[in-house]
Amino acid sequence: MMAKDYERIYQRDGLYWGEEPSELVKRFAELAPQGKALDLGMGEGRDALYLASVGFGVTGVESTDSGVLKCERLAEQRRVSVHAVCEDVRDYRITKNRYALIAAINLFQFMKKDEAEDVIARVVDGLKRGGLFVCTTFTQDDPSYKVRKQKSKEVAPGVFLDASGNYYSLYHYGELLKLCSELRPIYYAEYDYYDTQHGPPHWHGVADFVGKKM
Ligand SMILES: C[S@@+](CC[C@H](N)C(=O)[O-])C[C@H]1O[C@@H](n2cnc3c(N)ncnc32)[C@H](O)[C@@H]1O
Repeated sequence: MMAKDYERIYQRDGLYWGEEPSELVKRFAELAPQGKALDLGMGEGRDALYLASVGFGVTGVESTDSGVLKCERLAEQRRVSVHAVCEDVRDYRITKNRYALIAAINLFQFMKKDEAEDVIARVVDGLKRGGLFVCTTFTQDDPSYKVRKQKSKEVAPGVFLDASGNYYSLYHYGELLKLCSELRPIYYAEYDYYDTQHGPPHWHGVADFVGKKM
């Protein structure tokens, strides 16, 4: 799946990623200070909507119009407020020292690693002291790694360029932790995850990171 494919997917009825927020955001939202939250690559907004429902003032950034529209519709139905912005995260200016929580759940696969590094630097600046960055991305243990090795051009370690000109990144062991080294890690895990939420059940190799701005 490439980022642009989600435009069409989110036009369908129902929620592609399910109604429930991601486990990581749900679990660590409780530990974050109160205030504003930013959800980068929010999709249809399952985490943005959850964070709004528990009292955060939420902005969600997403590159698809259909994701943004669906999030706005759901926010109205659920009577919560999400400021939904249709923009590429790589161009989005994050206000410094503003956010209690910033989430990037399964976003960094869809850009080059140096672009992810640049976004993370802005995330660090955007967090207020004590604020949390909650992030998940795919690792080299993801089954797509072998396929991409065979079918795409590897332009840098774990960064693949496909025939349509799209980049896709799979992270090496400990790499996400290293990219987030300006934050104090309070949770980090790499594991295989059996995904039954959409399409036929399938495996992913996943890295989860939660870090605090000191
Ligand atoms: C795997 S989905 C996860 C969506 C959401 N975070 C969730 O967990 O439900 C990744 C999302 O990031 C969006 N995305 C990918 N690259 C992006 C970029 N550069 N700027 C903004 N959104 C992007 C995609 O459109 C897609 O909705």
